[in-house]
Amino acid sequence: MSNHSYQGVIHRYKKYLPVSDRTPIVTLLEGNTPLIFSPKISNILGKNFRVYLKYEGLNPTGSFKDRGMTVAVSKAKEEGQCAIVCASTGNTSASASAYAARAGIKCIVVIPSGAIALGKLAQALIHNAKVIAIDGNFDDALSIVRELSLNYPVRLVNSLNPHRIEGQKTAAFEVVDTLGEAPLFHSLPVGNAGNITAYWKGYKEYYSYSKINRLPIMLGFQAKGASPIVKGKPIKKPKTIATAIRIGNPASWQMAVKAKEESGGIIDAVTDKEIIYAYKFLSREEGIFVEPASAASVAGLFKIRKEGYFDRFIKDFDKIVIVCTLTGHGLKDPQLAVSKVKSPKIIKPTIKEVAKETRL
Ligand code: F0G
Repeated sequence: MSNHSYQGVIHRYKKYLPVSDRTPIVTLLEGNTPLIFSPKISNILGKNFRVYLKYEGLNPTGSFKDRGMTVAVSKAKEEGQCAIVCASTGNTSASASAYAARAGIKCIVVIPSGAIALGKLAQALIHNAKVIAIDGNFDDALSIVRELSLNYPVRLVNSLNPHRIEGQKTAAFEVVDTLGEAPLFHSLPVGNAGNITAYWKGYKEYYSYSKINRLPIMLGFQAKGASPIVKGKPIKKPKTIATAIRIGNPASWQMAVKAKEESGGIIDAVTDKEIIYAYKFLSREEGIFVEPASAASVAGLFKIRKEGYFDRFIKDFDKIVIVCTLTGHGLKDPQLAVSKVKSPKIIKPTIKEVAKETRL
């Protein structure tokens, strides 16, 4: 397929999605994101490793949410809805606002005040969503919008809406369509746990259609201060620098546990320090700028490799293929990026001074 004819994930994967010829397709040509081989991460893990990065930051609004949103908003429109609502740590609201604008319907987003990255807030505002900031966290926002959608004529587009999961599972299809097989492992960050649910659903469907002959092992990573699934209990005041996954009571908790158990995988936690290390590693060493939450998938790989998790697989497999989802673009959170590096020094505007500073 030439890029020219690419028409978005609904068009590409129609037969696996709950759409019909009557569905008005609302698309910004999401999906079709690159699967980038990472020689450096592969090398760090070991000589038999092949690590690929599914760079979801290249979706139209800069995160993986667009895959689910194209389906959720198309279905809302098909069903005659005039408004959608979501709670968000930022990316869902950015995506919902853009697709609602495209569809010509109203969008309401409820966000934890002061806790979403600037780029994401800018997106919701510029796409003309009604942005409500609450003096509470994501979990509070989600329970409000759930109730709201039950009592008012507005469609919930958080991943509790099954159409979101349907759209997001297309990322698993793309991985398989690109690699020609399922990876041995699939690593991704876990927040509200919709994405791990969606990938697992996608892989299982491809398996049931005999597109793959084995399923991957799922590796999910939460941030340590926001790791309810790892701890086995909700966290009242989740804390992490990775605001996108600062969630204490994930909506798809049970589904994430199911993905872990059915695949024989793990859900583990990484510290903010480990997240920032991976965040900088990706940008400095591979030229890939992601947001901190996205780096949790790579941080997790580094961590479990050191702990010896892969040792038994190294014995059993001569090639270990890992796909790591990089969920969002680094430009979403420019303030964090500049806070993690040295600011440029200001010098006199002369060739001599510049040459001296750059040690040319
Ligand atoms: N990475 C990024 C960049 C995210 O924005 C999110 C979730 C996740 C990972 C975790 O995915 O929730 O499916 O487990 N962001 C949501 C939001 C909560 O509101 O934008 P998940």
